[in-house]
Amino acid sequence: MSNDSSRNFKRTLVTSALPYANGEIHLGHLAGAYLPADIYVRYLRLRGQDVLYICGSDEYGVPITLTADKLGIDPKELVDRNYESIRKSFEGFGMSFDNFSQTSREIHTETAQAFFIDMHAQGLFKQRTTKQFFSSKQNRFLADRYIEGTCPRCKSEGARGDECESCGATYDSIELINPQSVLDNSPLELRPTTHWFIPLGDLQEKLETFIDAHPEWKANVRQYCKGWFEDGLTDRAVTRDLSWGVPVPLPDHEGKVFYVWFDAPIGYVSATKEWAEAQGDAESWRQWWQDDETRLVHFIGKDNIFFHALMFPAVLMSQSENYILPDNVPANEFLNLEGQKLSTSRGFAVWLPEYLEKFQADPLRYTLARNLPETRDVDFTWNGFLTRNNNELGNNFGNLINRVFTFIHKYFDGVVPEWNEEMMTDLDRKALREVKEDLEKWDAHLAEFEIKAAMEACFHAGQVGNRYFDESAPFKSRKTDLERCGHSLGIIIQILRHLCLMLAPVVPFGMEKLWSWLGMKTELWNNGWDEGILDIPSGRQLGKQEILFPRLEQEAIEEEIERLNKMLED
Ligand code: 2FM
Ligand code: ZN
Repeated sequence: MSNDSSRNFKRTLVTSALPYANGEIHLGHLAGAYLPADIYVRYLRLRGQDVLYICGSDEYGVPITLTADKLGIDPKELVDRNYESIRKSFEGFGMSFDNFSQTSREIHTETAQAFFIDMHAQGLFKQRTTKQFFSSKQNRFLADRYIEGTCPRCKSEGARGDECESCGATYDSIELINPQSVLDNSPLELRPTTHWFIPLGDLQEKLETFIDAHPEWKANVRQYCKGWFEDGLTDRAVTRDLSWGVPVPLPDHEGKVFYVWFDAPIGYVSATKEWAEAQGDAESWRQWWQDDETRLVHFIGKDNIFFHALMFPAVLMSQSENYILPDNVPANEFLNLEGQKLSTSRGFAVWLPEYLEKFQADPLRYTLARNLPETRDVDFTWNGFLTRNNNELGNNFGNLINRVFTFIHKYFDGVVPEWNEEMMTDLDRKALREVKEDLEKWDAHLAEFEIKAAMEACFHAGQVGNRYFDESAPFKSRKTDLERCGHSLGIIIQILRHLCLMLAPVVPFGMEKLWSWLGMKTELWNNGWDEGILDIPSGRQLGKQEILFPRLEQEAIEEEIERLNKMLED
């Protein structure tokens, strides 16, 4: 592999941002933190690297209790329900996590508490008392989202705790006039409360050194960090007055839990521990988190950069045990939909479970991979999806595969025909050289997380295959020169094996089939590369193919477009 930094590492730990268990997964999530990570992980497995892929659901935070309150159910019931549904749709989409855990599990409580206790014992937190709104009726402090009142700027009623929807002002909730609880309209009073703060200001120098040591990170991530450093990092509270969360593990602190952004990234560690236990080697999590020969990579959306590039590294570097820091944080920009920003509150999104009811995972994976928000926001359109499916997946790849297999089964009993060095023409050599170069480019780009560029190389290889099929014309030579015909098909089989490697991480469902039809012996995801770069010899029996990427008709997507248009009208 061409990535310089990967050479010094023994293993790679990959994480995708833990999705909130407060709803379903949509296309924006997939394009940001999930599909790119899964492609990268599958690429590493294909290349025989030792890799562990960790994720889980992020189950604390105020929006979750608000939803649970609205539904009249316990937050735990809500997150368990959502966890199950997220897990299922990720599975349908082909996400290949080694563990998909939950932050509401015992192992996470223990792990997050141990992180806190360690820093507390070293005296690293600052403790500070501030005033916050308290409802005597409910006998609890209320988070901003539970508070509404009169806007301190435009005086309109029903302004939210920290933001007015009428005039767009944002403010501190203590400025709100006539603050009330959104739950029962009871009046609120300000009461003192004590919280623990991580002194990011004191850690700024160390964090700057850490970021400076990574000039290879994506420009967007480095740019954001630079901006925060220029503004100066400030202390951040790691605790909240709430009942739903990981309890603060100190005596007399009932009603206090961790701030969700303190505990959530620690979820990566808890999920690794849970995985290690399930492997029957509970201590093996340490080699993934505490060994300098492990490379940690966090895939996230751009809204999570602060927490993964600064806050979590600050926590990791503050532990008394040695933890590795992220080696890279490939953050993606956002995905828009039909030219508009996604809006989950208005339902303007494409939800994964609904998608999977109607379509296969591969076409969506392919379409998103061709147009990922790697360096700028991008737009997903249903018409674009149709075109990618029919013209690229279908025509450029699927048809070629299908034509070649059909031909070999029909005229050569499904056995790879005799092809050899003596029969090589310039045309043959050129095609083989081009796909090999494409594979090399593909490899170099993926090692650098450049999935779109890798896909370009892959697409080009498909074009080379089609051009070679047309120009070598086995459909003609079959009647005039059967040997030549067989040789050309033998060459195309070699092209297909290149395509199979390049497409595998992106459209794994289809390529696992092609891999077996090509008669490969090793497991694709366990260093399939080493077999895939070798010639497929004459005489090998091929499997019987089926249509991999069926054509979609315009009608199939009209309904989706209409649904979205309706959302915009409402
Ligand atoms: O933005 C989000 O969806 C968060 N739930 C991501 C958390 S990532 C990690 F820190 F757990
Ligand atoms: Zn206002």
